[in-house]
Amino acid sequence: MRQASLGIRSGALALFILTFLCLANAGMAQRHEQPPPPTGPWMNTSLSPDERAELVLKEMTLDEKIAILHGVGMPTDEPVTPENAASNRGVGYDVGVPRLGIPGIDMSDAAYGVRSSGVNGRYSTALPANVAAAASWDPNAAFEYGALIGHELRAQGFNMSLGGGVDITREPRNGRTFEYLGEDPVLAGTLVAKLIEGTQSAHVIGDIKHYAFNDQESGRNSVNIHIGERAARESDLLAFEIGVEKGHPAAVMCSYNRVNGDFACENKWLLTDVLKKDWHFPGFVVSDWGGTHSTEKASAAGLDNEQPGSIFYADKFKAAVNAGTIPMAELDGHVRRILRSMFAAGIIDFPRQRSVIDPFAGFETSRKIEEGGIVLLKNDHATLPLIPSRLHTVAVIGSHSDVGMISGGGSAQVDPIGGNAIMPPGKGATHWQEEIWFPTSPLKAIQARAPKATVTYDPGTDPAAAAAAAKGADVAIVFAYMWESEGMDLPSLSLPHNQDAVIAAVAAANPHTIVVLETGSPVTMPWVDAPAAILEAWYSGSDGANAVGNILFGSVNPSGKLPNTFPRSEADLPHPTVTTPPPESDHFSGPVAPEVRAAGLPPFQVSYDEGIKVGYKWYEAEKKPVLFPFGFGLSYTTYGYSDLSVAPGDSVKTTFTVTNTGPRAGSEIAEVYATLPAAAGEPFKRLVGFAKLKLDSKEKRTMTVDIDRKYLSIFDETTHGWSLVPGVYTILVGGSSQDLPLKATINLK
Ligand code: BGC
Repeated sequence: MRQASLGIRSGALALFILTFLCLANAGMAQRHEQPPPPTGPWMNTSLSPDERAELVLKEMTLDEKIAILHGVGMPTDEPVTPENAASNRGVGYDVGVPRLGIPGIDMSDAAYGVRSSGVNGRYSTALPANVAAAASWDPNAAFEYGALIGHELRAQGFNMSLGGGVDITREPRNGRTFEYLGEDPVLAGTLVAKLIEGTQSAHVIGDIKHYAFNDQESGRNSVNIHIGERAARESDLLAFEIGVEKGHPAAVMCSYNRVNGDFACENKWLLTDVLKKDWHFPGFVVSDWGGTHSTEKASAAGLDNEQPGSIFYADKFKAAVNAGTIPMAELDGHVRRILRSMFAAGIIDFPRQRSVIDPFAGFETSRKIEEGGIVLLKNDHATLPLIPSRLHTVAVIGSHSDVGMISGGGSAQVDPIGGNAIMPPGKGATHWQEEIWFPTSPLKAIQARAPKATVTYDPGTDPAAAAAAAKGADVAIVFAYMWESEGMDLPSLSLPHNQDAVIAAVAAANPHTIVVLETGSPVTMPWVDAPAAILEAWYSGSDGANAVGNILFGSVNPSGKLPNTFPRSEADLPHPTVTTPPPESDHFSGPVAPEVRAAGLPPFQVSYDEGIKVGYKWYEAEKKPVLFPFGFGLSYTTYGYSDLSVAPGDSVKTTFTVTNTGPRAGSEIAEVYATLPAAAGEPFKRLVGFAKLKLDSKEKRTMTVDIDRKYLSIFDETTHGWSLVPGVYTILVGGSSQDLPLKATINLK
């Protein structure tokens, strides 16, 4: 018997753990005293953040300016030192300007929840993976996602979030696909902007990362990405552009990789020309952890803050200022940006107040976002929703679905309350690259919704045993998972651990087989025709099992749609294999001297020769059929589209009617695509807008989606700006990238 089943699932122990965590948190709050509130002319809140920053800057000594440019190590992993003693023991700490009452910046990873809480005796909610939020196509859900993270950061004593990942899915085998928001820049950019807005609404510095083209983990610290300006601006960078312009993050984290020769964190084109000049980004650029590789070059390129340490931005920086190789004005520029962001995000006017955290308060938000993001991929013969009165026997199979659901790993990892569901209870902290299962049991959720049925469990490790367990049951529900994490890429898009064979065997034994996928990336499905129904549940968060239960039994109608194409096979991807680094460029393997690593490992080359054709644009242009297209997702009801009209203006107004033609209330994501005039040279459509609307059965709603003209434009490499190609545009509207019943043309200039 698994030890986990002895403990965490018993109410008494859960109460004990809750009490322990609350007391631990309260105790730490008492020991960690708040600094006195800052005073000085910069506390005049009628001044702008820039004016306030300027007033502080004028008072600062050279040493204080240098001190605010870098971190003091990673407090979570290191013993208490004089430098990090005042920190909140997150992954990064910047000392601020104590003499002037300017607080330190306490940074925590927070991709889908606050990281490293267990080790600090705290607790945080795991939201569904970011890709699940993207599958909701719901800007309001993205705001709530960010706001929950912001509030829990503050309550735990942090004032800066390291979340907001938005590298688009060029390489679906990227081990961080779950941390990102899909393959389309308009969808990803719109949602990340809302997420950042939500986080910063809690007076926490929000960031957007990893800027830019950190689309594979293999050799991420040395890979040199080649991409042309137009392709870069219309794809990955457009997601960042929308995120920066609409979400106003106070910080941007530059990525580990090189782009067209230079490391992203010392790349003048990325940091200064595009980010600071073209997008008018007023905040500060922070390096990814250990992503700084120089002093003068990085500073001149636009890197403002080195994290987590101080190899290049402390003594070496001061020496460069004293020697005149870095002008004082350049140093002041970095400091001004950091201070300005602190004022703009409100971390000075609204100092964090630690509080005792209710570990269950976030469950409802987490569950609702998951319910909105689960995608129903297949539902033959209306197998779903399940009707409890018709169920006598249910076979639940695979993926530890008796005790938990998987989560995404790496620096995004959130600690489950009580520890990993498949390990001994009480193991508060998680460990790097360990599969972490949240104690949210699908088996229990199913049993609770079919109380009269006999619900059995089979671990799904042996196809024959799983088939025997499924045979004769009214329904067999197979949970299949693919774990992914920062620091690795997936070897392939095939389900690991022989799960393809298990699903095939179960589906052959029972015609009423339902597959529930727990993955961050698309997976291939050699068995796709066999089961009656397929759900993509992603990494489902703290209360994932209840969300899945609500969808399976129909108390929630599925409404999520795919933010990433599911290809038929890896052979159809732009790059059939992930390019891996030669040994001398591999950061993750072998001992590399810290100085060598800091200076930068030798590059290896990856060319994004597919250019703009990312995701569905690639499959359309290359005429490759797919397993499930971008934007696809079924519902328990049906929708009809009618009456499209398109009118030019500052934005292009697209008006159409959506009708719920089926028997149940539901939420439909209406997707608007455009194809450009032939002169644009882009023979594939692009997403230019979307809206999620709730409709009762038979209800019809007319709505208008305003298309930003930038989303219809191309990036002109001669003027280095967006340009609308005059001519005829086709606007397409419908419920999936491959199901667009409405079509209209419009002449634009
Ligand atoms: C990751 C970042 C993360 C940082 C701090 C890096 O390895 O790439 O996403 O914020 O570590 O943990």
